[in-house]
Amino acid sequence: MTEKKQRVHLKAPDHWVNDPNGFIYYQGYYHLFYQYFPYGPRWGTMHWGHAVSRDLVNWEHKGIALFPSKRGDQNGCFSGSAVEREGKLCLIYTGVRYEEVNPEDIHVSLNEQFESCQMMAVSEDGFSFDNWKDKEMVLAPVADPKIGSRTHTRDPKVWKGGDGWYMILGSTLEEKQGEALIYRSEDLGSWFLVNQASKGPEYGWMWECPDYVKVPGGEALFVSAMGLPGISGKEKNQALCFPVTFDEASCRMEIPDEYQFLDYGMDLYAPQTTLDRDGRRILTAWVRMPEPVGDGWIGMFCAPRVVEMENGHIFFRLHPQIREALSREILKPSQAAPEGYRAVFELEEGQRINIGGMMVWRNGNRLFADRSGVYPHFEGAHLLSATPQLNGGCHVEALVDENLVELFVNDGEYTVSSVVYRLGKWIRPEGNLADIKLYTLAG
Ligand code: FRU
Repeated sequence: MTEKKQRVHLKAPDHWVNDPNGFIYYQGYYHLFYQYFPYGPRWGTMHWGHAVSRDLVNWEHKGIALFPSKRGDQNGCFSGSAVEREGKLCLIYTGVRYEEVNPEDIHVSLNEQFESCQMMAVSEDGFSFDNWKDKEMVLAPVADPKIGSRTHTRDPKVWKGGDGWYMILGSTLEEKQGEALIYRSEDLGSWFLVNQASKGPEYGWMWECPDYVKVPGGEALFVSAMGLPGISGKEKNQALCFPVTFDEASCRMEIPDEYQFLDYGMDLYAPQTTLDRDGRRILTAWVRMPEPVGDGWIGMFCAPRVVEMENGHIFFRLHPQIREALSREILKPSQAAPEGYRAVFELEEGQRINIGGMMVWRNGNRLFADRSGVYPHFEGAHLLSATPQLNGGCHVEALVDENLVELFVNDGEYTVSSVVYRLGKWIRPEGNLADIKLYTLAG
């Protein structure tokens, strides 16, 4: 078992984690729930694990918050979000009920025969959860295929609008194109469909984990698109983001054709945002890992990123509290705390740097990262990542953890995050790269 207390990056306490859920700053704590399978390092019947932090840097695992206990969620508490209502913490998530259970493995369904409803669990204080008493279904499975799928409709993200509560829900039209369903509610207890938004099969057959937010400079939609066609050299399920406009009265969302990837590495998926203590819109995401680490845990979360927009471009900036925590200057990575270090450097055209076995370089005003030296050749593994053309120079801030290297390019113009294994505790510029500054945790 990894430590109950973790710093900088939140990782699985043991066994398996995937999506971040119910991310919220509530009564003095950041709460980050997550998809959790408590019986082994693989996906199965979903629970909500729970971790809390005062500062986004020091985290403590609190065990299981939600587990299957009602007919609607008897085979899993899938992803969802959190809001505060009259001082209480409300968790709104997808309940899954299998119609056919795999007789040899009851933690998965057979032939994708399951139905999904939306449920709510209410906690008085964010720490105690009564899975029998304080849980109810708030939205029945979708019954009309013209609206969405009875099976693949999930991951409610709820927010408070000007005149009530809004929910964006991921779905699919005929298992051909991803869509987002937008609902409104007066009280979180009953929901009315107001609109549907989709873009066509080129944008994936199913949209998981949608999130819509207003940020400084614009509005953004996130979706985790399954089965993106025509994508080569990358996993086909990818988190995308679009600059959008949303009208509350009609719930109409204008989504442009062009999108950005959430991240230009290969591993981030299912992001979720919330507001931090100071009102910044922050995001974390599941870091997909191909195999367990150490004594058998798999899955972690990227460091929180601040989301902002400029001229229609979405930026993901390193959160200032992470930068501040990693501010003790060191001369070499071997002097870093176990949680890793932050490296800051500028890459000129053609320059390269080797971060413990991972190569990073600039070419044609794009940043490339090749992890083949620190990533065993898992079947189908994609090893080379690159950003689009950068706008201007190439300033890099790297957050280096033994399992994950996150590159923030030009203060979040693009990010490139890569899972790594057995990263070396050294950093080597190649050629005439001059100045690298290294920082680690103060305490
Ligand atoms: C995304 C996802 C969600 C779902 C959850 C199940 O990774 O497939 O759509 O709610 O994971 O664990």
